[in-house]
Amino acid sequence: MTIAYPAPAGFLADSNVYQPQDDSRLLVEAMRCSGLVPQRRVLDLCTGSGFVAIAASEMGCADVTAFDICSHAVRCSRANVAIAGVDVDVRKGSWSEALDHGTFDVVVSNPPYVPTPAEGDAQVLSPNAGPSWAWNAGPDGRLVLDPLCASVSKLLCDGGSLLLVQSALAGTQRSLDTLRSTGMDAEVVASRWIPFGPVLSARAEWLENVGLVQRGCREEELVVIRADKP
Ligand SMILES: C[S@@+](CC[C@H](N)C(=O)[O-])C[C@H]1O[C@@H](n2cnc3c(N)ncnc32)[C@H](O)[C@@H]1O
Repeated sequence: MTIAYPAPAGFLADSNVYQPQDDSRLLVEAMRCSGLVPQRRVLDLCTGSGFVAIAASEMGCADVTAFDICSHAVRCSRANVAIAGVDVDVRKGSWSEALDHGTFDVVVSNPPYVPTPAEGDAQVLSPNAGPSWAWNAGPDGRLVLDPLCASVSKLLCDGGSLLLVQSALAGTQRSLDTLRSTGMDAEVVASRWIPFGPVLSARAEWLENVGLVQRGCREEELVVIRADKP
């Protein structure tokens, strides 16, 4: 798979906001390959800098609504939307608040999914690593993934689809099983192995100790899951 979406020219960087990375780009590429977006109503959950929502708009969706819990991200994504000259309705709030906004044809999300040690076991990260709330997701990485997979069908119209990116370290099969348990057809449609970045590198020993990676492994697999509501 080609990862062909650079950040748009002039895209704003903010040290309190997750900057688009391999997972963001894999999700955008999967959106493009799926052909799901043009003319459809899109919801981007956990929008961060707005990178995925802006890409959906540039792919010709009917409209995009985006949610993020972080006020820095909301400010940054609104600024990036203005710079890109597109129309995205950015809202501040948890992804679950989208449940009050009706249903959508397509839901896309790059949520926090990084397995996170308890405070005592935490490794110190470089201050340049970015905001911890963008990736920390509890000991198994599923703090957001579990409730999101369990309730996303309520956010979708009949015939609607989810595209979700996560690390396999947070349990690909568990996401597939949870989505299927709600009546959706779910499968992995894209994947990519990448070297550990600064966050996983700092946690490598803990990940080994809890059995999430084999000793010496310093790579993770990113996957994009597509789930279709009948
Ligand atoms: C991994 S970043 C992804 C950002 C962007 N979608 C991208 O792909 O570049 C995750 C984002 O989720 C946001 N977030 C964390 N918990 C959230 C929640 N419960 N509801 C909505 N957004 C949340 C964080 O503020 C962060 O901006």
